[in-house]
Amino acid sequence: MNIVLLGPPGAGKGTQAKKIQEYYSLPHISTGDMLRENINNNTSLGVKAKSYMSRGELVPDELLITIIKDRLSRKDCSAGFLLDGYPRTIPQADALQMILTESSRKLDAVLNISVNDEELIKRLSGRRMCACGASYHMVFNPPKDDEICDLCKGKLYQRDDDKPDAIRNRLIVYKKQTKPLIEYYKKKSILRTLNGGKDISGIFEEVKQILEEYEKL
Ligand code: AP5
Ligand code: MG
Repeated sequence: MNIVLLGPPGAGKGTQAKKIQEYYSLPHISTGDMLRENINNNTSLGVKAKSYMSRGELVPDELLITIIKDRLSRKDCSAGFLLDGYPRTIPQADALQMILTESSRKLDAVLNISVNDEELIKRLSGRRMCACGASYHMVFNPPKDDEICDLCKGKLYQRDDDKPDAIRNRLIVYKKQTKPLIEYYKKKSILRTLNGGKDISGIFEEVKQILEEYEKL
């Protein structure tokens, strides 16, 4: 299955993606994670992306289209993939369609996780990350020991863009540049909207129900 996870910042795309990746053995492709890795490794892409990301702005389309084209051409994507955080603009969605058509593939489902702004702000401001890739929430999904990763015992940190000013900007940017994708994929009849206000396992149950329908097709 070729799946896109759509939704505002903090909707739970990464959280659900980890569960989907495990359950369906699909590669989880998070453009946010890829960009953060480039920033940590000080690559030229990372240097270009850093200031956009810390302000909560989108990184220019041409950079994202190049990295996603390369990533989707790798062998592990031939039997399916799970995109998290891409596409985020109409030009990115058009480019994705072209990349897939060129390789005789298509998108099967776009799962849109819908959550209200008040809840998104709570989720983003309470999020803590670990360098190993694990993600927690200090109230909704807390680590066993305060600020320490359950998996690798690393010290947890807050993402730069989870500070109040950047959160506010990310929500504005989402509404202006990414939300139009809901209509875009509705028109293609592959959009399914989930109630992202439920708890993590409740949302995953809904995801599984939807994906089981697609598997039967
Ligand atoms: P990216 O890393 O993709 O960030 P985002 O889309 O803003 O989304 P988040 O990762 O913040 O939220 P999420 O939906 O994954 O939620 P999570 O599961 O972590 O992008 C970062 C930046 O990179 C962008 O701003 C942009 O600059 C750049 N970028 C990336 N892709 C780009 C692109 N295609 N084009 C241009 N620029 C791009 O959950 C959040 C918190 O809530 C966690 O603490 C979690 O534990 C908790 N939580 C999750 N689910 C629930 C639940 N059901 N109930 C309670 N708490 C929950
Ligand atoms: Mg994420």
